[in-house]
Amino acid sequence: MQGIQGKAPRRIIVTGGAGFIGSNFVHWVIEHQPDVRVTVLDKLTYAGNRENLSGIPRDRMAFVQGDICDADLLEELFSQADAVVHFAAESHNDNSIADPEPFIRTNVEGTYRLLEAARKHDVRFHHISTDEVYGDLALDDPARFTEETPYRPSSPYSSTKAASDMLVRAWHRTYGVRATISNCSNNYGPRQHIEKFIPRQITNILCGIRPKLYGDGLNVRDWIHAEDHSSAVWAILSRGRLGETYLIGADGERSNGEVLRAILEGMGKAPDDFDWVRDRPGHDRRYAIDSTKLRRELGWRPCHTDFAEGLASTIAWYRENGAWWMAAKEAVEAKYARQGQ
Ligand SMILES: NC(=O)c1ccc[n+]([C@@H]2O[C@H](COP(=O)([O-])OP(=O)(O)OC[C@H]3O[C@@H](n4cnc5c(N)ncnc54)[C@H](O)[C@@H]3O)[C@@H](O)[C@H]2O)c1
Repeated sequence: MQGIQGKAPRRIIVTGGAGFIGSNFVHWVIEHQPDVRVTVLDKLTYAGNRENLSGIPRDRMAFVQGDICDADLLEELFSQADAVVHFAAESHNDNSIADPEPFIRTNVEGTYRLLEAARKHDVRFHHISTDEVYGDLALDDPARFTEETPYRPSSPYSSTKAASDMLVRAWHRTYGVRATISNCSNNYGPRQHIEKFIPRQITNILCGIRPKLYGDGLNVRDWIHAEDHSSAVWAILSRGRLGETYLIGADGERSNGEVLRAILEGMGKAPDDFDWVRDRPGHDRRYAIDSTKLRRELGWRPCHTDFAEGLASTIAWYRENGAWWMAAKEAVEAKYARQGQ
């Protein structure tokens, strides 16, 4: 659509900056973009943690606890910003199956409120989305998702993300909001909530609980380190073409079984030291990203290309930061047990 935007933003709002990927992005910006000042807007739901932003100097970041659906608060924050990077979401598929309502509110209504604030204050808008909007691929299908793949979301979570992507496109086309969208594959790395697949298995082993593998373990995810997601988002925010969507992926296709066996190996356990559990309803079979557009147009490349190495540092992070996750462990496992998982 429209051409390359002007100069890189200096004052950015990061919604959901106390969550997993948002906090990794804030740390990345603080380290790599010395002229940028960040305002984190985060509601601190069960998935947000103020500790995720510890160590960041006050002159580089302000933290605002608040809801992206609060139009008055957005009015105040957007009047002082050049750009918003929108990570805030209800993000866990299993939760969306149990209770879709918070997903509709935060992911759909929240994105609408942010778009309205961006429209009013002419703030550059980057929307963080997921490859799950494209549905799934068959295991034996050589295809990968591209920016042209039709939307076919399967779960309440992915359908709300798909809806939010559509709002962003419409606000760009109808009102001229200076927006871009990125759809990224599955992230791993430090500070990911232990309800998610990789940290759940790592912390199970650390607690002496046998790891759990859904269904037949053959479902394939395309893994990317959260730091590589962050550098890609910055490339799009600062140099991407307005109105465009970019897929972010690092050629990291692996089945859940392979990932679990890599975790077991990395933690000195036997490859069969886990339990099979009931599959998730509607569980997508395979995701795979073709990120040619991002690489070709913006010259982006991932740094974490050795999965075993990225996994080892992630395992080390959970081992060294027991205080960060221990308090939530019992409740997370009790919830999975109720679902037979
Ligand atoms: N985790 C992945 O592998 C992945 C992959 C692709 C895209 N994404 C997208 O990246 C984004 C971040 O995902 P994540 O895994 O870091 O999620 P997360 O659940 O770890 O973090 C979400 C953050 O948003 C905050 N939040 C939730 N509702 C809010 C509201 N109404 N107002 C303000 N803040 C609110 C939470 O407190 C939390 O800090 C999401 O938009 C998700 O769809 C995630």
